[in-house]
Amino acid sequence: MACRCDLLIHSATQLVTCASPGGPKRGPAMREVGVTENGALAIADGLIVAVGASDDVRAAFDAPRQINAGGKVVCPGFVDPHTHLVYAGDRAGEWEMKLRGTPYLDILAAGGGILSTMRATRQATLDWLVEQARERLEVMFRNGVTTCEIKTGYGLSVEAELKMLQAIERLACTHPCAVTTTLLAAHAVPPEFESDPDGYVDLVVEEIIPQAATWFAHDARAARVAPMACDVFCEANAFTVEQSRRVLMAGRRHGLAPKIHADQFSSLGGVAMALELGAISCDHLDVTTAEDRARLAQSSAIATVLPAVNFHLGSTQFADARALIDAGCALALSTDHNPGSAPCFSLMLVMGLACRYQKLTPAEALNACTINAAHALGVGDVLGSLEAGKQADVLVVDVPDYRHLAYQFGVNPVARVIKHGVEYAYR
Ligand code: NIG
Ligand code: FE
Repeated sequence: MACRCDLLIHSATQLVTCASPGGPKRGPAMREVGVTENGALAIADGLIVAVGASDDVRAAFDAPRQINAGGKVVCPGFVDPHTHLVYAGDRAGEWEMKLRGTPYLDILAAGGGILSTMRATRQATLDWLVEQARERLEVMFRNGVTTCEIKTGYGLSVEAELKMLQAIERLACTHPCAVTTTLLAAHAVPPEFESDPDGYVDLVVEEIIPQAATWFAHDARAARVAPMACDVFCEANAFTVEQSRRVLMAGRRHGLAPKIHADQFSSLGGVAMALELGAISCDHLDVTTAEDRARLAQSSAIATVLPAVNFHLGSTQFADARALIDAGCALALSTDHNPGSAPCFSLMLVMGLACRYQKLTPAEALNACTINAAHALGVGDVLGSLEAGKQADVLVVDVPDYRHLAYQFGVNPVARVIKHGVEYAYR
């Protein structure tokens, strides 16, 4: 007698689990995605209850709703572990300047870049921020992202950072995509503190972090998905290693998991510092040294690389993701969606860039956008792979082979998104 479940997906040409029960995948394990041909998956109460060969799962389970995934790939919902999705305005004008040769850091130093988005974001109402970001989140969701991290960092004052947190919280409450929250108050030094950057770090440490942590603990529903993280942009023209340390330590005192933007343009020592503080991820890593790669490999932190940034900035230099994996790191990929360095909506495009320019295999790229990305947010035990007991975040993709996720580009082949057991159909 078959057990009853809510939803049965069967006959998948490939069912790809990305299963990794012992933690994130690192080194050679990243080359395995776990493919079952003619695979099936049973879902009950929003959770995965069985994964395996179609004949076995169908013999054991029956469901009122069944999806025939013949000719298609079934895989975990993607996890985007690094985005700046809430902002006002855009930076298409600056992008054109960059195309004509003005460097990113020069635009930032002249009050553009992050600061121009800060001005637009401070002026925007909460409702407008939410409305704009919801449209972006919807596009990401349709492109397969079922869990998305969103950072603050365009407010850069107590009031405006809290407004960004509220915007993220509203998205978490009103969109099916799971949203995790990261406080990035130390993203740039705002103009009021131009001549006193340490004064801004004092404000972050003494006021923004404590108020944000209190708000999150009492008012945020997003807390049910993951704890809030604390991030810092450790870079020339942003924050030094010592300033970054102060920020991450203050975050830790308030229960926020440390994350860092490190080694995007210069290798200042941010990786070693963040690892000392128990960072859950180190992100960018474009100019990371072999020594720091070895440190990352020895740590439990996820190494997150963001090739859409290099692509958007028109660079042919990418983070050495191959060397990170070969050193034994657990690698994740992300869009880094933001209006300045990566207005990117597609993790499948990011996988394609990583395979072509960073020498990842399609399997490594898929693990980097699922199970490892979930660990970069501290939710790898409940999300990021198709394993019995995990949340049912599943994609049915109209491709015959998982490699097509990175092989095709300029198209969205996602046919159905199943989030926490609820089905959304797009084709
Ligand atoms: O991750 N590098 C710093 N922060 C973002 C860019 C933000 C912006 O330019 O608005 C990043 O690339
Ligand atoms: Fe970023």
